[in-house]
Amino acid sequence: MKKISILGSTGSIGRQTLDVISNHPEKFSIVGLSAGKNIELLKEQIIKYRPSEVSVENEESARELGSALGTSDTKIHYGEEGARIIATIDEADLVVSAMVGASGLRPTLAAARAGKDIALANKESLVIAGEVLTAEVGKNGGILLPIDSEHSAIFQALACGQRGDVKRLILTASGGPFLKTPKEELENVSVEVALNHPTWKMGKKITIDSATLMNKGFEVIEAKWLFGFDPDQISVWIHPQSIVHSMVEYIDGSVISQMGKPDMRIPIAYAISYPERISMNCSSVSPESFSELSFEAVDFEKFPSLSLAFDALREGGTMPSVMNGANEVAVAAFLSEEIGFTGIVTTVGKVLELHKTGPADTLEAVLESDGWARNKARELIGN
Ligand SMILES: NC(=O)c1ccc[n+]([C@@H]2O[C@H](COP(=O)([O-])OP(=O)(O)OC[C@H]3O[C@@H](n4cnc5c(N)ncnc54)[C@H](OP(=O)(O)O)[C@@H]3O)[C@@H](O)[C@H]2O)c1
Repeated sequence: MKKISILGSTGSIGRQTLDVISNHPEKFSIVGLSAGKNIELLKEQIIKYRPSEVSVENEESARELGSALGTSDTKIHYGEEGARIIATIDEADLVVSAMVGASGLRPTLAAARAGKDIALANKESLVIAGEVLTAEVGKNGGILLPIDSEHSAIFQALACGQRGDVKRLILTASGGPFLKTPKEELENVSVEVALNHPTWKMGKKITIDSATLMNKGFEVIEAKWLFGFDPDQISVWIHPQSIVHSMVEYIDGSVISQMGKPDMRIPIAYAISYPERISMNCSSVSPESFSELSFEAVDFEKFPSLSLAFDALREGGTMPSVMNGANEVAVAAFLSEEIGFTGIVTTVGKVLELHKTGPADTLEAVLESDGWARNKARELIGN
């Protein structure tokens, strides 16, 4: 029986992880859950999965959860310390890291320091602190298992050959809701339309990141840290159907891909059951479901976020952390209609231009650059 803690259990990835676990009660049990403010759903999850410890975002939510639950064996924690407790519960074999944005960094690092295996959805942790997080994982004996469908695909395709024989990694991207929208119309797209992703149903932040293709930029950075390849060995192809989840090209011309329906429960299941595979109750693929597979090159002019990510990765140091911090502020400003859609990437680009990169080998250094980036982005948006 694998014992699991979930950071972000009320979110899109958290809920789908619990769905996978529900179908395999003989293989998994839940020991810890952490959420933000969705007390109603967390209460239901506690009653169903009976974790020994849970955490919520703040003291007020903890009080609300306490009265909603009544007498219960589950201990309630809150805040950063609460999330740290959930990430480091002694009996947990695996921690699913699925909080959104920088909020996931400290608990994910705590899990790494505690030597836990980590099923990682929170890519921002690697974007902000890839060097620090991978060093802690390596030092303390855990492993990082990707939940992102693209990285799960690459992880599986890399098992088909030797590292030294890899020519390049090819990340696929659906292209988001604006793949066919003319560049000049992007400025005026609404929040509602940007939140309508054609193939994936996800939390708001990653949905907007998918629309700007910033998410793909972050995935390029994530791929570097997960698999250790140079930016020049990472390509991105547009593949609107989201069936080929990514590919690895080897030096002999063989291209190995992993395919499947666009259902996040598939990579989640692989990450939590690794190295085994577990049966899933999703319908089998058919010739019809694979009948239209198309690929095209990325339009870097229309989606400059991807060039920004490659540049930030090549520059290295604190640049990726600055990119993430500025993006989080800009996405929040777009969602609250303070700036337009193209203002997101313009803001991130300006903040990156103003930043002088420094070493990113300590948590303090990356948090300082993250704070700097957020202030700079707010200042630019305010102006
Ligand atoms: N969704 C996908 O299909 C998908 C695919 C690949 C990767 N990812 C990555 O997975 C991560 C989660 O994405 P998501 O779509 O699941 O996001 P989401 O639906 O917005 O869920 C985020 C979770 O984090 C919790 N949370 C947010 N801020 C918090 C805070 N300050 N303290 C404690 N908990 C907090 C939320 O709690 P409440 O809701 O209770 O407030 C919720 O449980 C992201 O890094 C994303 O890039 C997602």
